[in-house]
Amino acid sequence: MIILGIETSCDETAVGIVSEDRRILANRIASQAATHQAYGGVVPEIAARAHLQHLDHVVLGALDDAGLGWSDIGGIAATCGPGLIGGVMVGAMFGKAVAAARKLPFAAVNHLEAHALTARLTDDVPFPYVLLLVSGGHCQLLLVRGVGDYRLLGGTIDDAAGECFDKAAKLLGLPYPGGPAIAALAEQGDPRRFALPRPLMDQDNCDFSFSGLKTAVRRLVEREDKPEGTNFRADVAASLQETIAHILAGKTARALALAAHEKPTTLVAAGGVAANKVLRLALAKTAAQSSLPLVVPPPALCTDNGVMIAWTGVERLRLGLSDGFDAPARPRWPLAELVKVAKTSA
Ligand code: KG4
Ligand code: ZN
Repeated sequence: MIILGIETSCDETAVGIVSEDRRILANRIASQAATHQAYGGVVPEIAARAHLQHLDHVVLGALDDAGLGWSDIGGIAATCGPGLIGGVMVGAMFGKAVAAARKLPFAAVNHLEAHALTARLTDDVPFPYVLLLVSGGHCQLLLVRGVGDYRLLGGTIDDAAGECFDKAAKLLGLPYPGGPAIAALAEQGDPRRFALPRPLMDQDNCDFSFSGLKTAVRRLVEREDKPEGTNFRADVAASLQETIAHILAGKTARALALAAHEKPTTLVAAGGVAANKVLRLALAKTAAQSSLPLVVPPPALCTDNGVMIAWTGVERLRLGLSDGFDAPARPRWPLAELVKVAKTSA
């Protein structure tokens, strides 16, 4: 079975083609990052229009890269949420139209589940595993028990970690997306220069809070007595990156303890922020303390991409979990709701 997957929930128009035996046949991405950079964040209306404009070319380009025609494709998967609704509707409608015209099964993919299952494509990770899902819109710790079967261990009570990187980057005058820009600047900085708050770290749960961190960075940047002529901005970037990595790794350790009785096989990190090298090092230590391997998909598959959507199509369609053409587009779609959908339809 070869599946074509469409991702349009944020600012990447992306299409992947994946085979059931875990081969990536195409991975095309048309990024709108440059378009949104001037605004310091994604503008939903502009994103939706750009998806409509580019999706056709990206799909045909992916087929070309794979050396395949429509007759080789056995199913269509498209992100149906959560995400910016205009973009989601463009991708979902495109996917449904192709599936209808070619009489192919359709998988309405949850974007978060796609991030969660990527490690099974790249590293064949067996269920159950603990997942740290950290992106621009999401920050959660989950126990992944199976397709559609997630136990939420904790999550952010305000901003996501990626959002914190993005907002802090804006304060530091860095371009969007902020994570990679902060990581690059931090390379010349001292991570111990500024002691930033570590909210909720004293609480024995898996919840995060990042909005205070953003405020602390604003105070530093707006300080009247800013030490000039030093590595000020790089030191702020390095201190922030170190603090976020410390918080994420610390809460992940708690999640591993909380899920220990379910005997997870692996610690997996996914989502855009998992591309961060300092975070990877911190998580490697956390995993080692629980004698578990750490799996982080390669950066190109950690940030939004079409391959993860296609792979989720493989996982769902091979279980017979196809969706009707009335599948809704959802701006909000927590993984916990997915459990109910999967269980009632099984
Ligand atoms: O998963 P993703 O591509 O899109 C969402 O679904 O949100 O994640 C994008 C987020 C952005 O906030 C971006 O700043 C962050 O991931 N990010 C990083 C890095 N690369 C991307 N954050 C920290 N370090 C990085 N190297
Ligand atoms: Zn994402």
